[in-house]
Amino acid sequence: MSDQGKHIVAVIGAGPAGLFAARQLAANNSSVVIINRDIKPGGLAEYGIYPDKVKMKDGLRKQFEQILELPDIHYFGNLTVGEEGDLSLEILKRFGYQAILVTAGAQGTKWLGLPGEDIPRDVYHAKDLVYHYNKLPPYSNQEFYIGRRVALIGVGNVMMDIARWLAREKKVDEIIAVARRGPAEVKFDKKEMEYMIANLDVRALDEELGRVAPVMVAIGQDPEAARQNILAASPRALERVSDTRFRFDFLASPTHILGKDTVQWLEISNTTLIPVGDDTKAKTLWTRRILDVDTVIFCIGDRVDDKFGLPTQWNEFVKNPNPQYPIEEISYEAYDPETGLPIQGVFMAGWSREASSGLVGIARKDGERGAKAISHYLENVKPVNDPNDILEKFQNRLARLEKPIVTKIHLPALVEAEKEEKEKLGLEDYKFKTNEEMLKVMKLI
Ligand SMILES: Cc1cc2nc3c(=O)[nH]c(=O)nc-3n(C[C@H](O)[C@H](O)[C@H](O)COP(=O)(O)OP(=O)(O)OC[C@H]3O[C@@H](n4cnc5c(N)ncnc54)[C@H](O)[C@@H]3O)c2cc1C
Ligand SMILES: NC(=O)c1ccc[n+]([C@@H]2O[C@H](COP(=O)([O-])OP(=O)(O)OC[C@H]3O[C@@H](n4cnc5c(N)ncnc54)[C@H](OP(=O)(O)O)[C@@H]3O)[C@@H](O)[C@H]2O)c1
Repeated sequence: MSDQGKHIVAVIGAGPAGLFAARQLAANNSSVVIINRDIKPGGLAEYGIYPDKVKMKDGLRKQFEQILELPDIHYFGNLTVGEEGDLSLEILKRFGYQAILVTAGAQGTKWLGLPGEDIPRDVYHAKDLVYHYNKLPPYSNQEFYIGRRVALIGVGNVMMDIARWLAREKKVDEIIAVARRGPAEVKFDKKEMEYMIANLDVRALDEELGRVAPVMVAIGQDPEAARQNILAASPRALERVSDTRFRFDFLASPTHILGKDTVQWLEISNTTLIPVGDDTKAKTLWTRRILDVDTVIFCIGDRVDDKFGLPTQWNEFVKNPNPQYPIEEISYEAYDPETGLPIQGVFMAGWSREASSGLVGIARKDGERGAKAISHYLENVKPVNDPNDILEKFQNRLARLEKPIVTKIHLPALVEAEKEEKEKLGLEDYKFKTNEEMLKVMKLI
């Protein structure tokens, strides 16, 4: 079929948002060029979801393979866009893509600005560890020194994944989940607690509930209901494999990590709860306590990469406050607050639109809505004569980069080689831990 009369769109990032957006764009008669930092597609579905969720990961991998097989979708992996990447966003725009969708996830780190947060060892952000145990190069071969008593800051599902890795793989002595709010505001799901509940110190939970109950009751919360919710996973508890003691410290906000080269302890401030509509806010009281831990891991969500080449505000890229192509009242359009103008033709979706928000299904829907916004925008843009001209120009430029670029022609060899290793070693899943190994089996080096 002729490619004439099509639009050509670049999608940056091949996580769930980018891949499902690409499929939607291709279905709307666009030729799509996906650019991905990692060699493999999948984003956090490949390198975030806990390694033993093999069935779920395999199901998603199958869907991603099918998307990449579509003739109008082109894939360029091992290629980073950004001010410090292989190509800047400005350079990418010059190739003549008629729209660009940014689905690069949330790759920045949310620093809190605490003293001691920069201690080189023993203080980590969850994403780096998650990438490490999910074998994303170069994190896969990075050393992370984990002590015996670990404070996890935040009480969402990422905290639960990290706790699970610490209790079931690292078998540390103690894990303390530190929550700035109370037992009624925990964000993890019952299902994810099933892996940890056998390690939970229930007596410590009850003591902690007793300590914070007056604050809860004062604003109309029910401590017993919160207890039931936290313990709801009990009937389906997975057998414990370590003596790790898991406990919660509520109404506690980290203020200082003490230590020079390594962590000695963590100072926290007590907080109280302030009702805000149906929700609550933590208010710092400035009375302090010390937690005797030797490792601190922040599980508080991430922010977008400020070196990507788009304006950022708080933890996000700036969105057009008055979108021209809103979908379900959401703005998918990039915006420059300095000029007060939209950044023409640049859109964002998934965790690049709203950092650290929701499951794969949510990212997928967001990608599809972002694609819809682009399709509305393209209604007023003349299709190119032949998208292959732009594609060829782009590929010629990539050939000048001093690195191998992975296309969808190469990926099946990688899938096959990992499958062979998996079968040879009798494992449920197998991943090469370095780019070199992956490039070698694809005969790119
Ligand atoms: C630890 C963890 C566990 C999770 N577990 C589950 C789970 O069990 N079930 C579930 O449903 N959801 C889970 N999620 C949520 C799910 O992973 C996300 O909702 C989803 O992956 C977000 O998709 P995305 O496409 O927006 O971003 P991502 O998945 O982060 O994809 C971003 C893509 O962009 C690429 N990229 C990044 N920067 C650049 C750049 N500068 N240039 C080019 N490419 C770039 C990356 O290589 C990556 O492929 C988990 C999340 C985390 C953090
Ligand atoms: N297995 C799974 O299904 C799975 C696994 C991992 C992740 N995910 C999904 O991925 C998304 C991201 O997960 P997440 O755990 O990173 O986010 P999350 O659910 O939003 O939890 C973040 C936690 O960090 C706390 N926090 C945020 N900023 C803080 C600060 N400045 N100081 C102290 N605490 C702070 C939050 O407290 P407050 O509530 O007070 O803000 C909250 O407890 C979620 O949608 C999650 O469901 C799913």
